[in-house]
Amino acid sequence: MTDTIDTAESRDFESALSETASATETALERLIPQVDGPESRVVDAMRYSALGGGKRVRPFLIICGAEIFDVPTEQAERVAAAAEMIHTYSLIHDDLPAMDDDDLRRGQPSCHKKFDEATAILAGDGLLTLAFEVLGESETHPLPAVRCELTVALAKAIGAQGMVGGQMLDLVAENQDLDMPTVTRLQRLKTGALIEFCCQAGAILGQADEKSRHHLHTYSHDLGLAFQIVDDLLDVEGSTEEIGKTAGKDADAGKATFVSLLGAERAREQAGILADQAAKHLEIFGNKANLLQKLAKFVVERRS
Ligand code: IPE
Ligand code: IPE
Ligand code: MG
Ligand code: MG
Ligand code: MG
Repeated sequence: MTDTIDTAESRDFESALSETASATETALERLIPQVDGPESRVVDAMRYSALGGGKRVRPFLIICGAEIFDVPTEQAERVAAAAEMIHTYSLIHDDLPAMDDDDLRRGQPSCHKKFDEATAILAGDGLLTLAFEVLGESETHPLPAVRCELTVALAKAIGAQGMVGGQMLDLVAENQDLDMPTVTRLQRLKTGALIEFCCQAGAILGQADEKSRHHLHTYSHDLGLAFQIVDDLLDVEGSTEEIGKTAGKDADAGKATFVSLLGAERAREQAGILADQAAKHLEIFGNKANLLQKLAKFVVERRS
């Protein structure tokens, strides 16, 4: 990654990524406090997965998006933590034996390996529920209408017409020959929908106009697809050590991906085109969207 990104620019981007990641981790640490009693096991599992690393791309999208509209940082960080709870829940469930059956996540044993399957299911449920609790609390935004808008947008993004629907498609599509439009729809739902929410969250918090929201929407559309294409490429081209999850799982499971459909070279080309397009959609924001534009580049050049 650092070979191809200009060094001075990348320093900016990389420090912003690590600052937003640590702000999100501080918020997660505070929002998922340890508890006493026998039920502490589920909270330990929630904390294990939510605080156990990851690139924190979704929080970056929310925090940098919120900066465009001068949203107070504490509000953006709460929504970032909520989105990361959702993302973490989706990974915990995605790794279960009934789904992708992966023993490794973010370089550590998956939640069900570290604890057990029942605890992993409950830890996912706990994170999913807590995310909505956080959005509903007045500290997230003083206006109930804004908190409601965030809640509905997130629920839509991750429900049966969004991420959960995409995960279902991903499972039913195993060992089937799908065409491009079908794979595109699958990817947009399973990964794109939450990314779309994250790109809109700052605009919702900042009560931004329709035009701004439209540009963020087009950005997220291209970014989300590029993100999942690269995830699929890394499954083929990355090592287990680099990606922190078991490499080569998609081909073994007969998953329908852009790589299985187009081959690695064309898939990479497609991801590059989408990332360039994504960055262009943000030109109307001028310098205010520089970091989000750099993220599009990072998404295709990343090695994990
Ligand atoms: C992996 O997401 C799962 C997908 C939705 C493609 P990330 O690549 O963002 O995973 P972490 O959070 O960095 O571990
Ligand atoms: C996971 O997609 C998408 C969600 C968790 C919603 P993948 O199954 O491709 O993610 P990885 O490769 O296991 O991280
Ligand atoms: Mg999966
Ligand atoms: Mg998986
Ligand atoms: Mg994958």
